[in-house]
Amino acid sequence: MIKVAPSLLAANYLEFGAAADDMISAGADALHYDVMDGEFVPAITFGQALLAQLSKKPIDTDAHLMIVHPERHIEEFAEAGARYITVHQEACGFGLKHTLKAIRAAGCLAGVSIKPYTDVHSLDDVLEDADLILVMTVEPGKGGQKLIPFTLDKVRQVKQMCRERGISPIIEVDGGINAQTAQSAVSAGADMLVAGSAFFKAEDKQSFVRELKALLP
Ligand code: DX5
Ligand code: ZN
Repeated sequence: MIKVAPSLLAANYLEFGAAADDMISAGADALHYDVMDGEFVPAITFGQALLAQLSKKPIDTDAHLMIVHPERHIEEFAEAGARYITVHQEACGFGLKHTLKAIRAAGCLAGVSIKPYTDVHSLDDVLEDADLILVMTVEPGKGGQKLIPFTLDKVRQVKQMCRERGISPIIEVDGGINAQTAQSAVSAGADMLVAGSAFFKAEDKQSFVRELKALLP
């Protein structure tokens, strides 16, 4: 079954706890937590302290680190209760393999993300070190953007690369996912869908999540 991870980025910022409760009651699999540092991306969002509070809720947390030097913050996010920690290939360079190993050593699931214009083969050396591959379907940095269609080719390529190696990390997509675009992402090979605006705009959040979870390739 497809996993659905609503993104806190689109929540009402005076009501983060209620937003997490909405995700739980809607049947979501994880709370997607977008960390932005004002350097890897222009905006600044939230850090470990809020995550530590949200991690007390009965839902996995999926920390998407859009930050430079993510290797300096792995321990803190692990201690804050993150289930998944995803770092950007573009922020790690040659240290990527080491950082993914550090995430696993901290007891979390290790994710690596690529931006729309990053070559999928930049992941060649680390596929076995990742529990999750996040293919960005928009430029990271803000919610409410339209999915960039060519990014779905990257999802297909990543899926094929994993198949050839006989491995099956979770393939996550993030950006512009809604009831209309989700099917094409799943058909391309996505197993986990992040939805920010579409989740919080949905009148009936439970049906929204149920429909996405039931999609078939
Ligand atoms: C964008 C973030 C996304 C964002 C998605 O940089 O990584 O997680 O919340 O928002 P929507 O679903 O509105 O495109
Ligand atoms: Zn994200």
